Amino acid sequence: MDSIPAAPAPSLGSPVTRLEGREKVTGKARYAAEYALPDRAYAWPVPATVARGRVTAVDTAGALALPGVLSVLTPYDAPRLGPCDDPTLRVLQDPEVPHRGWYVALAVAETPEAARAGAAAVRVRYGAEPHDAVLHTGHPAAYTPEQVNGGYPAHREKGDAAAALAAAPVRVDCAYAVPPLHNHPMEPHAATAHWDADAGTLTVYDSSQGSGLVRSTLASLFGLPADRVTVVSEHVGGAFGCKGTPRPHVVLAVMAARHTGRPVTLALPRRHLAAVVGHRAPTLHRVRLGARTDGTLTALAHEVTTHTSRVREFVEQAAVPARVMYAAPALLTTHRVVPLDVPTPSWMRAPGEAPGMYALESAMDELACALGIDPVELRVRNEPGAEPDSGHPFSSRHLVECLREGAARFDWAAHRTPRQDGPLLIGTGVAAATYPVYVAPSSARAHALADGTYLVRTNATDLGTGARTVLAQIAADALRVPLDRVTVEIGHSALPQGSVAGGSAGTASWGWAVHNACTSLVALLARRSGPIPEAGVSVPADTTASAKQKSPYARHAFGAHFAQVQTDTVTGEVRVRRLLGVFAAGRILNPLTARSQFVGGMVMGLGMALTEHSTMDPAFGDFTENDLASYHVPAHADVPDIEVHWLDEHDKHLNPVGGKGIGEIGIVGTAAAIGNAFHHATGRRIRALPLTPDRVL
Ligand code: MOS
Repeated sequence: MDSIPAAPAPSLGSPVTRLEGREKVTGKARYAAEYALPDRAYAWPVPATVARGRVTAVDTAGALALPGVLSVLTPYDAPRLGPCDDPTLRVLQDPEVPHRGWYVALAVAETPEAARAGAAAVRVRYGAEPHDAVLHTGHPAAYTPEQVNGGYPAHREKGDAAAALAAAPVRVDCAYAVPPLHNHPMEPHAATAHWDADAGTLTVYDSSQGSGLVRSTLASLFGLPADRVTVVSEHVGGAFGCKGTPRPHVVLAVMAARHTGRPVTLALPRRHLAAVVGHRAPTLHRVRLGARTDGTLTALAHEVTTHTSRVREFVEQAAVPARVMYAAPALLTTHRVVPLDVPTPSWMRAPGEAPGMYALESAMDELACALGIDPVELRVRNEPGAEPDSGHPFSSRHLVECLREGAARFDWAAHRTPRQDGPLLIGTGVAAATYPVYVAPSSARAHALADGTYLVRTNATDLGTGARTVLAQIAADALRVPLDRVTVEIGHSALPQGSVAGGSAGTASWGWAVHNACTSLVALLARRSGPIPEAGVSVPADTTASAKQKSPYARHAFGAHFAQVQTDTVTGEVRVRRLLGVFAAGRILNPLTARSQFVGGMVMGLGMALTEHSTMDPAFGDFTENDLASYHVPAHADVPDIEVHWLDEHDKHLNPVGGKGIGEIGIVGTAAAIGNAFHHATGRRIRALPLTPDRVL
């Protein structure tokens, strides 16, 4: 190539459909449980039935006598594992039972059915101990941890919140409760493991948000050099955070493969998920706001109490978004956590922000009512000049614009009087949204091939979001070629290292590396002459240095939700009639897949508001709602035609791709907007989610 070619019409910004869509709808795309390796066996784990104690005996005879059952692994004879930072992965290593549902045995058999029957026939005896699984604010074991999820300090105080609250002319002081919630992706966790003893290699197909971390974890646990371990996560049927770290199923699948010498598939039944793949921990909130009569805040205090397990400390950082939102001279944000005999909580879409903004944005609505100020206006009046907690300038912040544009599109002013239609009470509500901008080191390699096409490789993971497609768009634009000349390879641990698909940071992180590799390749091609050789020409890029650089800016996406809700005074049913979101999340790279992310988040927020709820059973120490018949995610009939808009935001302080991340912000604030609309319609505050008929009537 002699010169840089003229760029074709840019691919970024176009509504490109998912590149793997056809493979998926025709069944050609393979998920982790679908790798039909020759001679494969199946494993089924046995969950503990006590909430605390130890295994005293395991009788495997009945299971082993069943047709097709090959083996049963127990804490006494399972392979010993090497070091690992995550104690939830140390399965079958000792007889301790830290919570109900913890795995205590594993049946391996010729078929999935035989494995399940084998698991059911294993007789486990326990020495049960008294347990405590119920969270309450005054729990004697509550403590303030050093840090909360995300590495944030647990406690921050600026100014004297108590004094400012005492002196405030107008105050609200409210308690909110968000129940435990479960991720429930369409595809429950699954892994197919192949331990090749002769070659000394381990190949694993895992439903994961990041095969790189699965690889390093398995290498350490099973004492293999990392280069002998390959992990493939080519297609993943949803995750929402619960596949962000390796989970016990993959460890057990590898144990079984090593033990039997056969490839083994372990597909978790949905009913196991609540106990072994993390959940959104319940959060109890106290929010206190102090304000002048003109609505300007003088104090904001957000105190959160949550639970963790006795296995691992995970603290839902629900007071952290209050550090970002509003200009309050006195600002107190703090967390307390209670270790209980419960499953270990973990990431679920917008951990921290989703429950935290429910509480804060409900309290803002209560303050607006107390002041008689329009809730949109109240938020506008408290717009900070810099990030309240840190004092750092925002890289960009268009919350006011989101509120204003949303109000105009929703026709907010016209809906400010609640109305009645027969038994229905109808009202409207608003809430703000925010989610931080994260970016993680990644690398990529771009190849120019002799046939004039390009191959871009990076170990990204596409959870169904369209990440693969957007990466191809980023590559095509950087290479200045049409999209159909670019092939993207992702979802394989042998590819250049890519960060986990989490924190709404995937596209920015991988995209940065892809962009750099592709622009370097274009420059290299411009310098050389003659045709591309048979072997191709390739360039790697790694963003470690740049991605790790601390930004002097506070970087967050913002948004605003507007909801119209009806409450049936006869049945107690609450339904969302309209839901409209406006987001400022940097550059929107693909309007089709982006819209689907925003809508998906808002649907999940609608579920959080109205239907999703999990109960910790105090007697059994387990979640009662552990399938989709009892844990109600919204169905199509529950979801109105959701309206999504975004502002064109050009933020030069992000990364070359210019996006802030859109995977999580859609769920943030949605439940508050719906709860606020419920209050507007009925005059009643229900400060615990979800708004189910039993609470409404
Ligand atoms: Mo998402 S909860 O950061 O995987």
